[in-house]
Amino acid sequence: MAGYGKDACGAAFAADAVDYDLLAAQMQALAEGVESEISNLANASALLYQTLADLNWAGFYLYQSEELRLGPFQGKTACTRIAVGKGVCGTAAQRDETVVVENVHQFPGHIACDGASRSEIVIPIHRNGALYGVLDIDSPLYGRFGAEEKAGLEKFVSALEKVL
Ligand code: SME
Repeated sequence: MAGYGKDACGAAFAADAVDYDLLAAQMQALAEGVESEISNLANASALLYQTLADLNWAGFYLYQSEELRLGPFQGKTACTRIAVGKGVCGTAAQRDETVVVENVHQFPGHIACDGASRSEIVIPIHRNGALYGVLDIDSPLYGRFGAEEKAGLEKFVSALEKVL
């Protein structure tokens, strides 16, 4: 599949294609001159949530006191603490690599904060070479995140890392 939303309806969905280079540039522009990390993370979650179609959660868990703690996000209220190694977020943090889950119901240990979630992507974030936290994005559609989304969102996280 060339990209999300383009297989069945072709051109009708072309307008939905996300320009991930632009998204990364928007993140950097939004953060220009902003010193507060919380402000930048809050705007990052809003930017993702308002730009990407078919999401039900987009936000951050921050690595603090050797666990993941809920940070700024958009979506329904969520669990506040996740142990490293638990759930999709804890697994991405432990492996220190992006985890893409096509069907969360088939991921052992998935933590269901919102029963609507069907697929998920979690990308580790670093600062000064150490784990800073993770970006977590959930969708009510199965298989929402493919290779294009993974590459694009990793680019977004790289842009975000520069302003943290
Ligand atoms: N599903 C995540 C928990 C966080 S919520 O999706 C917001 C997980 O399994 O780690």
